[in-house]
This record gives sequence, structure tokens and C-alpha cells, in this order.
Amino acid sequence: MNTWIASPQRPLGLATGRTMEPVYGELVRRWQALPEGRREQLRQSWLSFNLDEYVGLAPADPRSFAAAMARQLGQPLGLHPDRLLLPDGLAADPAEEAEAYALRLQRAGGLGLQLLGLGLNGHVGFNEPPCGPGARCRCVQLSASTREQNAGAFGGDPAAVPERAISLGLHEILAAERLLLVVTGPGKAAILERLLREAPSDALPASWLRQHRDLTLIVDADALPVPATD
Ligand code: GLP
Repeated sequence: MNTWIASPQRPLGLATGRTMEPVYGELVRRWQALPEGRREQLRQSWLSFNLDEYVGLAPADPRSFAAAMARQLGQPLGLHPDRLLLPDGLAADPAEEAEAYALRLQRAGGLGLQLLGLGLNGHVGFNEPPCGPGARCRCVQLSASTREQNAGAFGGDPAAVPERAISLGLHEILAAERLLLVVTGPGKAAILERLLREAPSDALPASWLRQHRDLTLIVDADALPVPATD
């Protein structure tokens, strides 16, 4: 952890979702073990950009990704909200907000290390299939499967999940220096198997990550594709 966040030349790219919860839990645990002077140094140099945010949710709304990040990282680490950035879900013009967010990221030097989870339909961020590697930060329409996948935070009701989100595109993600894709749980085994076996294509947006020169994949035993038996 220390080498990744100690002297970031470029901002960190962060993801939300259940996969990241234990990752952030461990980060907080290690952070708390550091001397206060070191923690303060890290606070001062912290700058992160999250992948996405739902359109229509305020940062104070507990279901927003901004609120999730504040709960999981911002508050426990004592980060200044201006250093833990997400697209503004309440922006009057989401398309304009997406452009402004991408510009802010570009001005900050682009992404250093980008953490990524994997959607059940192969999305990363909210880059829903079909999606090519040139897709830029934009306002996207969420698929029925994604709204179902994320319904947990909305009382289990997929219809309550916003229909749109602002998401960094594969373009910004693939321009990161390093990618760390974390895939956990039995529910991800089938999509992971496709990701590992299929040639990159727009039908599986995460497959474009395989063309990145510095991709690390972390998989737990439950998500590992079951080997074929004869
Ligand atoms: C979500 C998010 C992604 C996340 C992915 C996996 O919809 N937009 O950033 O990584 O889907 O979510 P989970 O980790 O909950 O399975």
C-alpha cells in the first residue's frame, strides 16, 4: 500500500461496490497503524478520482457513491472532501459535468493506479456493453442487469436505482499507469471466465483491460472459473 499511495505522481483512481469494501477496510487498518505524522503527510498528498456517480443523487444521499466513499475512506482517513473527488450527481447538465470531470482529471495528470471491480455483465466503471476502448467520460444509461446488481443499496428495488450515471470512460481508464482489477465471489466466476478466454471486444468492456501494459488481476477462490472436467 505504502508505495502506491506514498508519493503519487498522479491521482489514484477509485471504485465503489461490494468488492472494494474489504479493500478499503484493509487500507484503513494499515493507515491507522501508521504514525500520525506519516498519516498527515499522506493526507496532504492525497488526490483521488472515483470512476462514477449516479445522476440525481446528492453527495449527502446515503445511496450515492460519494456517501459510500466518505463512509469507507474519507471519514476514517480524515481526508479533505476536495481531495476525494467524484462526479457531481446533482449537476444541472450531466453531460457537461462529465466533460468537466474529465478535464479536471486531465489537468491533474491523468490516473496513476486505478482500482477496478467487475460488473456482472462485464462493465468496468459504468461502461456498459457494448463499449469500445475509445469511450470517454460521459453520462451513460444503466442496463437492467446493472440496476438489478446494485439494487441492494436501494432497498432491493432495481426500479429505485437511478437510470443514469456519469462514468469515466475506457479511454481514461486505459490511460492509467497501472490497473488493479479485483474479482471476488462465486457470482463473478462466469464473467471472469469469459474475460480470461474471449478476445477483447465491445461486448465485454472489461476485456479491453487485457491490452493494458500493467494490469494486475486479483481473484479469490470463489470467483475462479471451475476447470473443465473430462
Ligand atoms: C458497479 C460500479 C463499479 C463496480 C462494479 C462491481 O456498478 N459502477 O465501479 O466496480 O459495478 O460492483 P460490485 O463490486 O458491487 O460487484
